[in-house]
Amino acid sequence: MKFERKDILGISELSVNEINLILETAESFLEISTREIKKVPTLRGKTVINLFFEASTRTRTSFEIAGKRLSADTINISASTSSVVKGETLIDTARNLEAMNPDVIVIRHSAAGAPHLLATLVKQSIINAGDGAHEHPTQALLDMMTIKEKKGKIAGLKIAIIGDITHSRVARSNIYGLTKMGAEVVLAGPSTMLPRDIEQMGVKAYTKLEDAIPDADVVMMLRIQLERQKQNIFPSLREYSQRYCLHSRNITLARKDAIVMHPGPINRGVEISPDIADDSSRSVILDQVNKGVAVRMALLYLLTGGNE
Ligand code: CP
Repeated sequence: MKFERKDILGISELSVNEINLILETAESFLEISTREIKKVPTLRGKTVINLFFEASTRTRTSFEIAGKRLSADTINISASTSSVVKGETLIDTARNLEAMNPDVIVIRHSAAGAPHLLATLVKQSIINAGDGAHEHPTQALLDMMTIKEKKGKIAGLKIAIIGDITHSRVARSNIYGLTKMGAEVVLAGPSTMLPRDIEQMGVKAYTKLEDAIPDADVVMMLRIQLERQKQNIFPSLREYSQRYCLHSRNITLARKDAIVMHPGPINRGVEISPDIADDSSRSVILDQVNKGVAVRMALLYLLTGGNE
């Protein structure tokens, strides 16, 4: 199958065939990261710009590593060290970067829709590395890759996503992706963190964690998005953790072989207790990070015409 897209803006627009192609391509790239010389010449001569207007450890580093392992030239730009601080607009920034002829621009921005705007303005491929509370497609792809590796499939699994659904771009992208791939997705969070019409996305939503995780194959915990909350939507972190933190007692409601996921960064003791986060028999949090490099290699490869 030829990959026809110019951009990766969201999971909502990807077909099951496209998701499968990305995951299969990523699987074929996994091995490169285990070699002594972790580099292939596939993207020699290509240029990737990582334009990050929000903080990031995992996404930015893995895009840079992904580009470098494929021999692309990678350039990182943070808003704080760019001319954005002098008042330059996103559109002017993008047009100036376009004039330097990169091949791919990866963007993270606090405004939902910022990557979509760029995609209409510049000829280069745009990858959404997280736009506000809207989508984080590469996170959902690496999550799906991790689930597929650990469980052998996605279709038919019960996947519980717990926490701040309203402000989570990770939740939204995973709901789109996991339901398309045939999983049963259930959510739990405080009513103030559950969008009113969320069940229209084909999921079940509960306000008690204990109602969502029974018999789950996968328990995906979300980070509390304090930076996106315009007002206090729960009384205190302590109260939140008493009701929604995953720990050694409530995890027993899930299947015995359930895996535990978290996109990071973790607020230990708030969303997930340290013993569960560090329990290598259940926690696949660092496997998710590992898959992130392969997924981003696959996207850079496919967008630059690698499988034509
Ligand atoms: N999961 C994720 O997007 O992490 P970063 O914010 O560190 O990139």
